[in-house]
Amino acid sequence: MEKLEQLYEGKAKKVFMTDDPELLIVSYKDDATAFNGLKKGTIAGKGVINNRMSNLLMQLLERSGVPTHFVEELNERETVVKRVSIVPLEVIIRNIAAGSFSKRYGVPEGVVFDEPTIEFSYKNDELGDPLMNSYHALALKLATREEIETIKAYAFKVDEVLKSFWAECGVTLVDFKLEFGRLADGTIVLADEISPDTCRLWDSETGEKLDKDRFRRDMGGVEDAYAEVMGRLLKNL
Ligand code: TMP
Repeated sequence: MEKLEQLYEGKAKKVFMTDDPELLIVSYKDDATAFNGLKKGTIAGKGVINNRMSNLLMQLLERSGVPTHFVEELNERETVVKRVSIVPLEVIIRNIAAGSFSKRYGVPEGVVFDEPTIEFSYKNDELGDPLMNSYHALALKLATREEIETIKAYAFKVDEVLKSFWAECGVTLVDFKLEFGRLADGTIVLADEISPDTCRLWDSETGEKLDKDRFRRDMGGVEDAYAEVMGRLLKNL
């Protein structure tokens, strides 16, 4: 397969066309942003880790019955994925209070929920990805009722699978963000990435943060944290 012109450049990845109209190549960058692009930096080696990790986790999810865009890893930073049109919803599952949930509701970080929660935000940088419920998503025709039900079911399944996988690695899956897309025939599949950029991962023993919050909050040790979770994942595959 041939890599053709760049289709799109996002904050953390570039997307290229291929000679197959149904397939794209994503290329993971070391660039990191936070707060809707206000904070900018680089995390050395992040692209390599996120590419590998996302691909391994997506393959694990496929085996558990969640369809994904993953096709084939090409090299350290590049992966072939199915071409989708992204459903413009960020789907966030939380097992433990942290981040914007803690801030919005005045709950200390670390409070464990009896049941996971789900929330949507409208994927729209100009508006700052505002929180929305499924009725809002329907009103704006971002997805159909059936698509939203499918997305919810997949998102909770992803939580189940990844929570238990990370637990085996000595890592607590606090929360994460997913994006879904539609294939040409309308099938909903998991897209984008699953990585320390898009998940909160805490050491199960010490509670140490092993994810992008170290960058967002200027905590230092960002590269080491990414390498640490990647190492634990590889040991437990
Ligand atoms: P939040 O607590 O800031 O709403 O973040 C919830 C989860 O979503 C957390 O694991 C980080 C992830 N996330 C993204 O992947 N992209 C984003 O733009 C934001 C704001 C959060």
